[in-house]
Amino acid sequence: MTTNPTIPSQTISAVVSRTGGAIDLPGSLEDATLPAPGAPTGHDILVAVRAVSVNPVDVKVRAGGAGADDARVLGWDAAGTVLAVGELVTLFRPGDEVYYAGSLDRPGSYAAQQLVDERIVAHRPKSLSVAEAAALPLTTITAWEALFDKLRLTESSTGTILVLGAPGGVGSILIQLVKELTGLRVIATASRPESRAWVEELGADVVVDHRAADLDRQILEAAPGGVDFVFTAQSRGRTALFTKVVRPFGQIVAIDDDRDVDLLALKDRSISWHWELMFTRPRHGWDLLAQHDLLERVTQLIDEGRIRTTLTQTLAPLNAESLRQAHRLVESGQVVGKIVVAESR
Ligand SMILES: NC(=O)c1ccc[n+]([C@@H]2O[C@H](COP(=O)([O-])OP(=O)(O)OC[C@H]3O[C@@H](n4cnc5c(N)ncnc54)[C@H](OP(=O)(O)O)[C@@H]3O)[C@@H](O)[C@H]2O)c1
Repeated sequence: MTTNPTIPSQTISAVVSRTGGAIDLPGSLEDATLPAPGAPTGHDILVAVRAVSVNPVDVKVRAGGAGADDARVLGWDAAGTVLAVGELVTLFRPGDEVYYAGSLDRPGSYAAQQLVDERIVAHRPKSLSVAEAAALPLTTITAWEALFDKLRLTESSTGTILVLGAPGGVGSILIQLVKELTGLRVIATASRPESRAWVEELGADVVVDHRAADLDRQILEAAPGGVDFVFTAQSRGRTALFTKVVRPFGQIVAIDDDRDVDLLALKDRSISWHWELMFTRPRHGWDLLAQHDLLERVTQLIDEGRIRTTLTQTLAPLNAESLRQAHRLVESGQVVGKIVVAESR
């Protein structure tokens, strides 16, 4: 998705979801030419997008947009170069290499240029390629807020955390943050040889099979007395498991949309339930700089070689066909790590 020199500079190339709905519908994702976002104002920066990653939220918004009459630019992860800055911007200059997830309420990153608030953006790690960097922001913000804002873990935290959905995008960065920044042991779920190998490589201490009938026994064997914390990206049908494997006064942080969790069943053990949504800060304008700060910290951890990218597959070029392929893979529910669509491989 490079800017075409034959089209006027007031337009940019983009990929839009015109009809929403199933990925195979012709208008679900299509190449388009759109008005350029224009000069940034206030805290906004204008970024030339070079790579995006595809998250389950892209798929959910696309699929849920069936019948919409507006072309929507999806995409909530990007790496690129700052082209221009608004008059209140202090954190970036034109030419800076950045990465960010952005905001659900603004046009997304499937476009050659995007406006984004500087306070939720960070300099991308110098040791990573643009695609390796694009894999990270949304999942990193989610994992960081879950661990440090919600569970309030610190370097001196000890005990065990169960990670449900560990091989996925969020789990893959979360395991690394836990191992690098806390004293916790990680029990990770994985059900296939490749996903098991991946979470072990990222630092999981114990791997249990979430498809096994004796999952509760496997967890309690690894954590007699129960786990202290649970991070869950896969909560559906897990109430009975939580009441068996979380110790009294333990804590659960959940990021998925499942509505069948019976919170009352957790009362007997005084188990706390936290929600984490990484779009809360941009949506409500709440403490935006916290996302800049945490991404800058992760940039540092990566450049020090303490955390690695979670990128496992790069598709190119950045157009509707590649994005359709990425959406299909994410929809399969079997992605290990992250899929990125970049201007080139
Ligand atoms: N609240 C937020 O801010 C936020 C942020 C990011 C994502 N999310 C949500 O969190 C969920 C996960 O996203 P993601 O990007 O991390 O995941 P993902 O990449 O889609 O996760 C894929 C992995 O999940 C595992 N998995 C599939 N079904 C499972 C199940 N029933 N139990 C345990 N593991 C299972 C699979 O591992 P195996 O192959 O080993 O089975 C697969 O490799 C999505 O619903 C997403 O929308 C929310």
